[in-house]
Amino acid sequence: MKKHNIEFKLNNETVSINVEPNDILLDVLRCKLGVKSPKVGCDRGDCGTCTIIMNGKTARSCLVLAVEADGAELVTLEGANSRPWTKKLQKKFHEKNAFQCGFCAPGVILSATELLEKNSRPSKREIKEAIAGNLCRCTGYTPILEAMEEAARGK
Ligand code: FES
Ligand code: FES
Repeated sequence: MKKHNIEFKLNNETVSINVEPNDILLDVLRCKLGVKSPKVGCDRGDCGTCTIIMNGKTARSCLVLAVEADGAELVTLEGANSRPWTKKLQKKFHEKNAFQCGFCAPGVILSATELLEKNSRPSKREIKEAIAGNLCRCTGYTPILEAMEEAARGK
């Protein structure tokens, strides 16, 4: 298959890479670029463990062809760590023991960051909606929702 050269910004650094037309962005990030925060979960758009921010919005990288990222701006948790809301959320999740195995954590934190960057005073319902696409198999969600609420309230 003919390779395509694509270029995108990843966590503020320009990346130029050759990909196959059917390469999946999640695989390129993890296997070719060594970016491990997006996780391989269901691999079909259901669980949110592969969440990244693409052109300012959360996206499931298992559903994105790498060629679609040509010219895009991508942020993974590795690059979001310095964003103020991401830092506040991480601190609060840690305090509340809001994760157990942590497999869902990067996706949840990015979805929560997206919400709070757009709406710093979300309702309980908006908080639930923001992470509705991120499955957590361990926590039952209560500590996750409490951590998000407390981060938003600056408690
Ligand atoms: S691995 Fe992408 S949504 Fe589950
Ligand atoms: S903490 Fe284990 S899946 Fe969420």
